[in-house]
Formats: sequence, structure tokens, C-alpha cells
Amino acid sequence: MSLPKINPTTAKAWQELREHFLAIKDLEMKNLFAADADRADNFSIEWNDFFVDFSKNRITKETLDLLLKLAEETKLKEAIASQFSGDIINETEGRAVLHTALRAPESASIVVDGVDIIPEIHQVKKSIENFTNEIVRGELKGYTGKAFTDVVNIGIGGSDLGPAMVVDALQFYKNHLNTHFVSNIDGDHIHEVIKKLNPETTLFVIVSKTFTTHETLTNANTIRSWFLEKASEAAIAKHFVAVSTNIASVQEFGIHPDHIFPMWDWVGGRFSLWSAVGLSISLSIGYDNFDKLLSGAYKMDTHFKTASLKENIPVVLALISIWYNNFFETESEVVIPYTQYLNQFTTYLQQGIMESNGKSVDRNGKPVNYQTGTLVWGEPGCNAQHAFFQLIHQGTKLVPADFIGFAESLHGNKEHQDILVSNFIAQTEALMNGKTEVAVISEFEPNNISSEKIKHLVPFKVFEGNKPTNTIFIKKLTPESLGKLIALYEHKIFVQGIIWNIFSYDQFGVELGKQLATNILTDIKNNTFANHDASTANILKYYLKK
Ligand code: F6P
Repeated sequence: MSLPKINPTTAKAWQELREHFLAIKDLEMKNLFAADADRADNFSIEWNDFFVDFSKNRITKETLDLLLKLAEETKLKEAIASQFSGDIINETEGRAVLHTALRAPESASIVVDGVDIIPEIHQVKKSIENFTNEIVRGELKGYTGKAFTDVVNIGIGGSDLGPAMVVDALQFYKNHLNTHFVSNIDGDHIHEVIKKLNPETTLFVIVSKTFTTHETLTNANTIRSWFLEKASEAAIAKHFVAVSTNIASVQEFGIHPDHIFPMWDWVGGRFSLWSAVGLSISLSIGYDNFDKLLSGAYKMDTHFKTASLKENIPVVLALISIWYNNFFETESEVVIPYTQYLNQFTTYLQQGIMESNGKSVDRNGKPVNYQTGTLVWGEPGCNAQHAFFQLIHQGTKLVPADFIGFAESLHGNKEHQDILVSNFIAQTEALMNGKTEVAVISEFEPNNISSEKIKHLVPFKVFEGNKPTNTIFIKKLTPESLGKLIALYEHKIFVQGIIWNIFSYDQFGVELGKQLATNILTDIKNNTFANHDASTANILKYYLKK
């Protein structure tokens, strides 16, 4: 079954939401709380080790009901069933979208092109497990007989961001192996990484779904040459492994067939960390923890697939985001994790969200007449508070925010944790309540400052408030809870793509730049700058003169 192709603005609920928006857009959240003693309970979902509070949003029960009606009218439920069952929902590339199959149990059955893909997935998982154990236990050794100490993941985009984010996020669970990531074509990046490495004890994992990506292949070749300065061709087989769908090109690179981990075209790059693309995760935290990451994601998949839309965390968060994006016309959303471990989380989400839903043509091939993908940005709190929160509190832009926090710290420093969590909670309270003129005036010590000065300062110190936030409070950062959290955002992306009537699983927008870079590289090699606009030619000349 193909995806529905309904322009959301033609849905009855969309028209009703428009009228409803005009009626409630100026309501103050604090008044909504004052009027409804049950608001916090009615606008929150407790599920497993997650507590999701979405009551601090500029919504009423009617808003939510209309958004849910929009989801029904745009056939979200049918689309969810289509995705999980392996329908070709990535229509522009003619593929199913089955990252969810990667975390399904062995007892499941999902058929693609007449073949049940679950046994093959579990076979590859077994080879990830065996390989991880052999490397971690030091059974597989380098060309001089020494055990491996370092792993370098060579990949870009989805072949880098997911593994890099998870390895960083789960460093508390890591073993003795040091994991590094080389992604940028920038030669300085690769040299900064390899200067710390001993080729005798380093394992290189080349990750490229297509095995044609210029950055990754250039980096892999540079590392290969560096390695061959010390070792022989035969040693390549011990030190290089690859993850790809393009087995022929991997073999051409010289990788031993036993060290090729396959993936499938029904896994999108930005959703691929659950496949062998996550090999560096497995190596870093051990296979059992990698498996727990997958089982956490599976739990979220089951919740997404089976909970009613109203009780469905990814659905509710996606709908609230649509409410701001399409009715308040906000441009961006900020994600603030209150743990340094999730330092790379927003960077990771940027690819997932913006590569998926940064589209302006709908599923009928027509230009959209409404806004689609949001900009996403953010940094861990409290650091973010001391960087850009000023704009969120007192700027002119409305920036809906997701606050992600963990009740328990991993190292157990209670004093720090209490301060961290106080900030996590206080910020959403401050963003909602703001600070009134009366409150500002009451803070001045009248004896120390003239009433004229107070009058002058008050406008600068007032916080308007009424800034929306979601709180995602999780018991503890574990491989399993992280798996749930990542899957939550994956499903939010999906829901939004369905309702916006766009194809979320292609990324043609990144191709043009790649093509033009190839042309410019030829110009650089030939020292020419014709056939470009005047600006581009001048920039090229500047480089050629350098
Ligand atoms: O940037 C485009 C893109 O295709 C991403 O979607 C993908 O994650 C990345 O390039 C890397 O691709 P590959 O894994 O094929 O090297």
C-alpha cells in the first residue's frame, strides 16, 4: 500500500485549527493552569521510565482534539501500519523504510520482495556480536600480534552522526577501546585523529551505505596509505572492516569478505545506527549494551504502533510541533538535553529532522502551500542557558523547546545532580510564567535606588513568559532509555512527514552541491575558472592565487 497523498490544508481539521488558532493564540498558559486543576495530569504521559509533560504548551483540550482529528484525516494510522509492514513508502527511491525491523525480535516476520528479512537481520547481528567479542577480548589481533586499543569509524552523515552521538552518549558504559570518528574531508580533521594512533593496534571501520561517498572514500584511502607506510598489503585484511550495501566496491578496496558487514537499501542512512552501521557502538560499549539500545528502540516502536494516538508520545509531540510550525508560524525548535552525555544529540537530530522533512514538494509532486520541516538546534543545559537562552526568554521569536532530563546521574554526585535538575525544571517554569512588572519592582531595594531609575529599568527586566516547552524526563541514561529516546524522535519525524504530505526518506537536496563540487574540483586541478557566475569565479580565482 502506498502512502496517502492528502494535502493537509484541505482537511476539515486544518480549517478548524485555523479558526481555533485565532481564538486562542493569545491565551496565557498560566491562566490555563489556573482554570484547570487537572491540566498537568491531562497533558502528560507516563510510559515505562519516561515522563512526558506537554502541559506547558499554548494548547487547550480542543487544540489537541483538532490536531488528533488532523492526524486521522491525513490517515496517520494507516501510514504507521504501512511503514511497519514494509510497504514501499519511500516511493521516490522505490524502497521500504524498515529501520524498525532492525530492532524487531527474532520471532517477528517482515516480508520484503517476498523474503522474510528478520532471519538475515539476526544473522548480521550475530556476526556483529561475534566480531565485537573477538575484538574486545583481544582474540583478534593486529598485524604485529598486539590486541586492538583503538577503533576509527570512517563515514559521514548517517554513517557517522548516529554512531558518534551514541558512543559519546554512552561513554559511561564503554570498555577499554578508544573510539574515534573521521567524517570531514578536511585533511586537518583526519590528521588530528591519526596522529594519536598506532597502526599496529588500530581497527578501521569504513561505513558507507553506498560506498561511493567522496568524503568517506577519500578519507579511507588516505588512512589506507598512512597504514601502508608501516604495514604490508596483507595487513589490511586484519585492520580494515566495512559496512555497506555495495559489497563489490568494498571487496575492491581490499577488505576481507569475512569483515564485510552488509546493510540493506531499506535502511535510510540517517536511521541506520541500529544496523551494522552501529558496529563502532557495539565495539565501544559491548554487544550486550548495543542490543539493549535496540531493545529500547523496539519498546518505543511497540508503543508507537499500538498506543492510541492520544496516548502516543511521538504522535503527540509531532502534533504539537505542527501546531507551532503551521499555525503560530514558528521557524525553529530547540532541543536542550540536561546531560553533557547528550552533547551531540541535537547535531544528530539535525540530520534526521532536516534531511527528512526539509522538502517543498508534496507526495503528489506539487509545490506545498504550507510550511514543512522545522529548523532544529540546541546544546546541553546548563551551558545553553549561559549562551542563547536570553533570546528564548526575551527575544522576539517564539521558539518551542524540548527539555530532556534524567532523574539519576550516572556517577551519583547528588549535589551536582540536584543543581542540574533544579535548572532543568526552573527553566520551563520561567519560560511559562515569565516575570511581571510587579514582581520586578518588588525585587528592587527602594532605599538603594531612585524610583526614577526603577521605572527606567523595569521594562528591560520584565519577562513576557508564555513560551512553550515539552519536558521529557527519563529515569536514567542507559543504552535502553537512549534507544527509546532516539526512536521517539524518529517516529516524530515520520508523523510530521505523513501529515505534511511529503516524502521523508529521500534526500535529493544534497545532490546538487556534490555534483558542482566535482566540477569545481576539475577546475582547481586545471587551474581554470570559466563557466561560472562572476561571484563563484572570483572565489575560485582567490583560491587558485592563494
Ligand atoms: O548527505 C547525503 C547522504 O546520502 C546521507 O543521507 C547519508 O547518511 C550520507 O550521505 C552518507 O552516505 P553513505 O553512507 O552512502 O556514505
